[in-house]
Amino acid sequence: MRIIVVDTPEQMGKVAAEIVLAERAKKAKGDFVLGLATGSTPIPLYKELIRLKEEGKFSPKKLMSFNLDEYVGLPPSHDQSYRYFMNQQLFDELGIDKKKTFVPDGMAKDIEAFCADYEAKMKAAGGVDVQVLGIGRNGHVGFNEPGTSLASRTHKVKLTADTIDANARFFAKASDVPTEAITMGVGTILESKVALLLASGANKADVILKAIEGPVTAAVPASALQLHPKPIFVLTRDACCKGLSFHYEKKCCSCC
Ligand code: PGA
Repeated sequence: MRIIVVDTPEQMGKVAAEIVLAERAKKAKGDFVLGLATGSTPIPLYKELIRLKEEGKFSPKKLMSFNLDEYVGLPPSHDQSYRYFMNQQLFDELGIDKKKTFVPDGMAKDIEAFCADYEAKMKAAGGVDVQVLGIGRNGHVGFNEPGTSLASRTHKVKLTADTIDANARFFAKASDVPTEAITMGVGTILESKVALLLASGANKADVILKAIEGPVTAAVPASALQLHPKPIFVLTRDACCKGLSFHYEKKCCSCC
């Protein structure tokens, strides 16, 4: 496990982008497959990837993406859907071919069949090379809430009150937050070649300590990353202010 501690969310974004580029450089043939996350945490990474694209250092060609999750019942045109978020925060600016960007379809009529097909598409793409992850205050990754099987595949979930509460800030009122979502499973996430978990802010410190140093348990789905072959945590200092005894790397900026 690699743990990289930085001072600011902007530095977190730069370090994460360096990791994405380094992994991409290792890929000799085929499309580079990024697993993507929504939420506020990965935004500095997406800004940095757009900046690198403008500098000619990151190309949207030979790039594919699979998003972790999507609300059930929100169409792509809804400004709180994760497809809309990805278009706004990354895809439009990057100029990526949208046909190569996959986000779970929250409007799918047969969700079970959709989930099986999503898994098949990831497999056909050769698997996810780098899976970007945020972490919920309750330890969720994607929308895998506490209690989700660590072997789970892409599936429909009921959101917990804590997650609905955390996401209510994006909706006019809490009752507008969808109560269900489609998410890659923990087992799906564990099959990515690199898992890149980002966290910033003191409100994540308790759960980061549990995820990295606590027991591997479905009660904290992110703790399953301890079983991942190549987990990398890029954390701001305040997100690990509850202390980490694991050896970690410090970086004060991307050029260190
Ligand atoms: P956040 O959400 O990045 O907005 O904190 C993370 C998550 O809930 O997975």
